[in-house]
Amino acid sequence: MTSAAHPSDVAEHDVPQSYPPSPEFAAAANAGPELQQAADQDRLAFWADQASRLHWHEKWTDVLDWTDAPVAKWFVNGKINVAYNCVDRHVLAGKGDRVAIHFEGEPGDTRDLTYNELLAEVSRAANTFTDLGLVAGDRVAIYMPMIPEAIVTMLACARLGLTHSVVFAGFSATALRSRVDDAEAKLVVTVDGQWRRGQAAALKPAVDEAVADAASVQKVLVVKRTGVDVDWTDGRDLWWHDTVEKASPEHEAQPFDAEHPLFILYTSGTTGKPKGIVHTTGGYLTQASYTHHNVFDHKEGQDVYWCTADIGWVTGHTYIVYGPLSNGVTQVVYEGTPNSPNEHRHFEIIEKYGVSIYYTAPTLVRTFMKWGRQIPDAHDLSSIRLLGSVGEPINPEAWRWFRDVIGGGNVPIVDTWWQTETGAIMISPLPGVTDAKPGSAMAPLPGISAQIVDDAGEVLGNGKSGYLVLDQPWPSMLRGIWGDMQRYRETYWARYADQGWYFAGDGAKYDEDGALWVLGRVDDVMNISGHRISTAEVESALVGHHGVAEAAVVGASDETTGQGIVAFVILREGVENTGDELIGELKAEVSREISPIAKPRQITVVPELPKTRSGKIMRRLLRDIAEGRDLGDTSTLVDPKVFDAIRGR
Ligand code: PRX
Repeated sequence: MTSAAHPSDVAEHDVPQSYPPSPEFAAAANAGPELQQAADQDRLAFWADQASRLHWHEKWTDVLDWTDAPVAKWFVNGKINVAYNCVDRHVLAGKGDRVAIHFEGEPGDTRDLTYNELLAEVSRAANTFTDLGLVAGDRVAIYMPMIPEAIVTMLACARLGLTHSVVFAGFSATALRSRVDDAEAKLVVTVDGQWRRGQAAALKPAVDEAVADAASVQKVLVVKRTGVDVDWTDGRDLWWHDTVEKASPEHEAQPFDAEHPLFILYTSGTTGKPKGIVHTTGGYLTQASYTHHNVFDHKEGQDVYWCTADIGWVTGHTYIVYGPLSNGVTQVVYEGTPNSPNEHRHFEIIEKYGVSIYYTAPTLVRTFMKWGRQIPDAHDLSSIRLLGSVGEPINPEAWRWFRDVIGGGNVPIVDTWWQTETGAIMISPLPGVTDAKPGSAMAPLPGISAQIVDDAGEVLGNGKSGYLVLDQPWPSMLRGIWGDMQRYRETYWARYADQGWYFAGDGAKYDEDGALWVLGRVDDVMNISGHRISTAEVESALVGHHGVAEAAVVGASDETTGQGIVAFVILREGVENTGDELIGELKAEVSREISPIAKPRQITVVPELPKTRSGKIMRRLLRDIAEGRDLGDTSTLVDPKVFDAIRGR
């Protein structure tokens, strides 16, 4: 468990412990205390009210069917089109000239897309996909940087009932291939290359490598983003500008069942094989839309919203694409890194567009802190009226800095806890209601129920750390793991099978005042800059190197990234330890197999690994070594002497 945010950190500071919303903010907030009252009175009626914020082609007959638990059906028999709700609906309501997306390219090119234009683009893409022979239920892999066409592609899939699988463009060809194969994607949508820190880097070669003899892939659709030279496979590869841009901008959205699969998103579990998390349509959009409206206090036509995530992660799905667009947002989409061409970039963008809601990750806040406040101070950030944080616990110091320096000292911060699996925010302050405590995600949202329990499933009182469970189904919950429902049941539902609770994999506690603190993962999943990476995945990449016999990986605390990856490897007989050369090769192997984001911070060659008598690697002890702590109880070890050997290195 990481301990980045802990109640005891707070007590030591001579600063306010709790930050109520200003009376002005509270008076104008979308969400007031009545929301919780309504949910408490009748939870399902409450969710039906939230679903009614959307356009349904046909209304549901029942709000929830939980008879086939743990596979829920929400808004049973309801018919809905997600893209219609995110685009057409706003155009039909006379808001077609509103800017949906202020696109800011990394090299400085910009493009504004109104809802009218977005509708035309999505319709063109939908017509193209139909011409390619794709029909509802087919899978499409999306491997693209943060450009408008990526969002258009997701919406076009949603419009046609095609299930998309977005693969983060920072993942390797190997990672893309395994995801394409697992979902049996027929189409891959990508770019020629992407901009990264002023350089055009080809991306299509990774796709070429990934789809070479992939049985399912019929076409590769390529957006020309950088103009870099790429190889071309006639008959398989198509340019976006030759197809989508020439297609008809007219397309009528058809309704799909509320439980139609909207997307698959792969995330790390505790084994080496990523899990394809399946989300469906009606319940997902309901909770995405509800949370975006209430947690971010989004005011249509007034706010300029910016979520800095990438569409390769769930935050990009729910809080760049589906939640915000369902609410008629005007948002910034930025292609590049925060320090390109220099550290002022985010603040220039906030100033330029008058961003009023800014949602980012604690690791970026800590990076800004390192760069120094003179950078944000050089800009007028007075448009900001709400800040959000996601992905990992935010330490109180970073929380206060965020509020003071970026928020001008008087805006609410919403620390939002959720997961790829939960689909949307579950635990967060309501910005006009909650007195927020720095570092605490505060409370389950109205309509959501969470408990903190011990191993036996006893609900723990205030002040006691335990496991976070969700004891009631929620609309945007995952419906399974693609192709592996057994793994779905085992991973999330087996631990508290008697009670029928979802086990989130996080430790948490309620403090003496009843505020909820998420303490970090309790399993072998690491959190690096808010990215989820499993120890097993990195270990399996390391043993893929011909010189490595065995590997053990742990997440050690890191000041900026939350956790850093630390690996211990045993070499095969006869393999020479060439020092930096070998370590460099091993790091490259992990980058190639998974992604540069999974590259270990430190790799140590060791003669042996600490194991229990049953042969299990004692990661807790390796973590202690990696963090330079005193070793605790080593009595269950086979050979305590291995530590001297490891430390002697
Ligand atoms: O450990 C929790 C942490 O991120 C995990 C989920 O990761 P992922 O599925 O990649 O989704 C990240 C974006 C929603 C959780 O199990 N986490 C996420 N948000 C918070 C958090 N930990 C503490 N506080 C948060 N606000």
